[in-house]
Amino acid sequence: MGTKRVGVLTGGGDCPGLNAVLRAVGVYCLRNGVEVIGFYDGFLGVMENRYCKLDKKAFAGIVSEGGTILGTSNRDNPFAWAPHAAIARGEKGTDQSDHVVALMKELELDGLIVIGGDGSLNIANRLHSEKGVPCVGVPKTIDNDLSGTDVTFGFDTAVQIATEAIDRLHTTGSSHHRCMVLEVMGRYAGWIALHAGVAGEADVILLPEFAYKPELIFEKIQKRGQNGSRYSIVVVAEGAKPVGGQLTVARTVAGSHDAIRLGGLATTMAMDIENATGIESRAVVLGHLQRGGAPSSRDRLLGTQFGYLAGQLAIEGKWGFMPAARGAGFDLIPLAEAIGTMKLVQPNDPLVSAARAVGTIFGDE
Ligand code: F6P
Repeated sequence: MGTKRVGVLTGGGDCPGLNAVLRAVGVYCLRNGVEVIGFYDGFLGVMENRYCKLDKKAFAGIVSEGGTILGTSNRDNPFAWAPHAAIARGEKGTDQSDHVVALMKELELDGLIVIGGDGSLNIANRLHSEKGVPCVGVPKTIDNDLSGTDVTFGFDTAVQIATEAIDRLHTTGSSHHRCMVLEVMGRYAGWIALHAGVAGEADVILLPEFAYKPELIFEKIQKRGQNGSRYSIVVVAEGAKPVGGQLTVARTVAGSHDAIRLGGLATTMAMDIENATGIESRAVVLGHLQRGGAPSSRDRLLGTQFGYLAGQLAIEGKWGFMPAARGAGFDLIPLAEAIGTMKLVQPNDPLVSAARAVGTIFGDE
């Protein structure tokens, strides 16, 4: 018996290109006679039985839209689940993954397509391997830190937006002879900071992977001033930290999917630079601007290809796999291989070498 009906959901932080994936999955399945049920708000919709049948109209004209037409949520895990109100009261979640099994049966779903980052793909893998729920994954994160795939959609858009922000900081920084410090996303991996920093000709780039020595940053900016460069650009990933130092935490929120919310490094760094060098400095936090809005054409193309391949896996009943970008093409890899290890910036990354070669410092040497 072939696949007749599949479920689809988007989980974790939203990401430009999600709707391109949904459209490709949806339209390709429908064209092959497979019905598509969309769950609202990721696994939250699964646990709360919130879903709808998607027809061709639902997917029309959505490729250019940011966000996800299905909505998403970051913290809802069927293996450790409790209603949000209970979590707010401090209650712990319990394993309610049997609900997913029962709902799949009730809705007569042959499988579930999970479009998400490491957290959602981990849930998909557990549902597949421990509970026998047929799952296909699609890798998603603007941070580009999933080890299973060369690249994820959303990253290109984020880099483009961050680069444009740096370009704008150049003109105001140069007019006022200031040091401009831009903070971009990147909790564990500094890919956005690295790519946008190099594309935007940053003088200093700070990454979570390379602990920095503040004095090297001050020295670089001071020297630039002495050499006649009257402004400087510093790009920091939110997760960068000094040698032997701590992460810059904006706030801690008990019961949240990310109890430690990062943020504020640009502000402290700008203050420290100004105090140490006497050069007036300003901080800008790009925040969710780099995640919202229309996807770049590259992310639309990548999303469409991932969506098509995921749809194909589902139609052919090849569960437990995920499409991954490899070189100029794509591979299909087991879900278990897609999760767990993060793809981090390595000291020998060609872009790191190129950046150092043109005088950019990472504050580490
Ligand atoms: O997708 C990961 C990420 O982009 C991190 O770099 C960042 O810390 C996080 O999302 C913020 O997401 P949210 O505000 O949705 O929790």
